[in-house]
Amino acid sequence: MSQRQITLKILRYNPQEAGSEPRLQSYSLETAEAMTLFIALNEIREHQDPTLQFDFVCRAGICGSCAMMVNGRPRLACRTLVAELPDTVVLAPLPFFELIGDLSVNTGKWMRGMSERLHTWLHTMEESPDICRIEERMEPEDAEAVYEMDRCIECGCCVAACGTARMRQDFVGAVGFGKIARFRLDPRDIRTDADYYELIGDDTGVFGCMSLLACHDVCPKSLPLQNQIAFLRRKMAQVSIRRE
Ligand code: SF4
Ligand code: SF4
Ligand code: FES
Repeated sequence: MSQRQITLKILRYNPQEAGSEPRLQSYSLETAEAMTLFIALNEIREHQDPTLQFDFVCRAGICGSCAMMVNGRPRLACRTLVAELPDTVVLAPLPFFELIGDLSVNTGKWMRGMSERLHTWLHTMEESPDICRIEERMEPEDAEAVYEMDRCIECGCCVAACGTARMRQDFVGAVGFGKIARFRLDPRDIRTDADYYELIGDDTGVFGCMSLLACHDVCPKSLPLQNQIAFLRRKMAQVSIRRE
C-alpha cells in the first residue's frame, strides 16, 4: 500500500471544562501499512495532541470501547483500516450516549441501565445455583444459537445508528433486543413470552422499532439482529393479541 497524507477532522468538546465549545479540529498524518484508525488516533495523541480523548482497551474488536462515528457511520476504530477511508475523515463521538469528552462516551453506564431494566441474566428455578455440580447439557444447536447472540460486545453502534433511539432516550435498542433474544433462546431460562412482553412489549421496546435495520447494517460483530428483532416482534404481537 502506498503511503499517503490524510486529514482527520475530529469533533472536540469537553463538557467537564468551563468554556469548552464544540469545534472540529484537523490533524494531518502520514498513513502506514495496515494502520487502523485506532493507531492513527494514538499517533496523534502521542505526537501532536495529548489532550485528545478517545477510548480503547483490547485493540481487537472485543471490548467495544472504541466505537465512534466515522464519516457519519458508527464503527470500531480498532477494526477500521485507514486504507479503506478517504483522504479526509470526520470523527465524532457516538450520539445518544453520555459524552465524556471528544470521542469518549459512557456506553457502560447506559448498558448497565439497560441490563438492569431488561433483567439480562439467566432466570432459573434454582434459588442459589450449585457451582460445583456438573454443567447442564444443552443441545449443540441451542448452544450455538445462544453463543451467536452472546458475541455482542456492547459497543453501542446499533443504538447510535437507530432512528428510534434518536427520538426517545428510553428505547431499549437493538442491543436490548439482542439480549432478550439470547435468553429466550436459552433452554435453561424459565421466562415465557408473557414475561418478556412486560419488558419489551411497548413503544420503548419492539413496538417502537421502525424496522429500518440500520442496527443490523452497522453491527461490527454481524449479529443476526434483523431475524431476531422480527421474530421477537411477532412473538410479542401474539401475546398482545391474546390479551385483547
Ligand atoms: S448488537 Fe452489535 S452493534 Fe449492538 S452493541 Fe452488540 S455488537 Fe455492538
Ligand atoms: S430496526 Fe429497530 S432497533 Fe434497529 S435501527 Fe431500526 S428502529 Fe432501531
Ligand atoms: S479497542 Fe476494544 S473493540 Fe476496539
